Amino acid sequence: MGDSLMIRFDSLSKRFPDGTAALTDVDFAIPAGAIYGIIGRSGAGKSTLLRLINGLERPSAGDVVVNGAPLSTMDQPSLRALRRRVGMIFQSFGLLANRTIAGNVALPLELAGVARAERDARVAALLDRVGIADKADVYPSRLSGGQRQRVGIARALATHPDILLCDEATSALDPETTRSVLDLLRDLNREMGLTIVLITHEMEVVRAVCDCVAVLDQGRLVEAGPVEAILSGSREQATRALLGDAR
Ligand SMILES: Nc1ncnc2c1ncn2[C@@H]1O[C@H](COP(=O)(O)OP(=O)(O)O)[C@@H](O)[C@H]1O
Ligand SMILES: [Mg+2]
Repeated sequence: MGDSLMIRFDSLSKRFPDGTAALTDVDFAIPAGAIYGIIGRSGAGKSTLLRLINGLERPSAGDVVVNGAPLSTMDQPSLRALRRRVGMIFQSFGLLANRTIAGNVALPLELAGVARAERDARVAALLDRVGIADKADVYPSRLSGGQRQRVGIARALATHPDILLCDEATSALDPETTRSVLDLLRDLNREMGLTIVLITHEMEVVRAVCDCVAVLDQGRLVEAGPVEAILSGSREQATRALLGDAR
């Protein structure tokens, strides 16, 4: 894929009906195959930016271009197709309590109309890949936080997406478990060429796994670039404040 772009934010603004300007004139691009961090304080606009990538929110001005397709011109069928190519994981995992682990991972395949035999094979392979094959038949309440997020990752990857969006995916986990989940994401990125967009308020997470990082502050892009450059030499006050927060 070389230097090709997977996602481009093009003078993107998002204003909610109540007048909140969640994002203002954001411009940057995410290369295919990158692990791209988006960092900022609570309320900076990170989750809104992520929800714009999979079309859960629409731009107020400007655009998001995903794999060459501008979001602003997509009709509902195109948006549904886009969402199958964009997986998402969350801080709260979002598992269904009344479905087994295998049942949770199978759900997106059921919705996509994948036949039973293929579904079962795919679910087994995914659970094996994320290291919880032995948990297939138990319910989410029996799993640790790290195991639940592995289920979330398996479910997000079920439909073979090009992009995985992670919204504070490790924020509920202890440092050791965080590290193991980040290692898994890094391995999946390398194996599958998966583009990962990872939002966090923790500089440690960026340092551990990201190639590039964008800093958001009050809905505006402060700066974006390779992690080493931004962590070592930033003159931006918002970035330095986040670095100071790193524990
Ligand atoms: N649906 C909404 N309606 C109105 N305001 C919203 C909505 N969603 C988010 N916001 C506001 O937009 C800003 C950015 O929110 P968000 O993207 O969730 O930030 P972050 O994920 O960085 O904490 C905040 O001020 C938040 O209160
Ligand atoms: Mg958020």
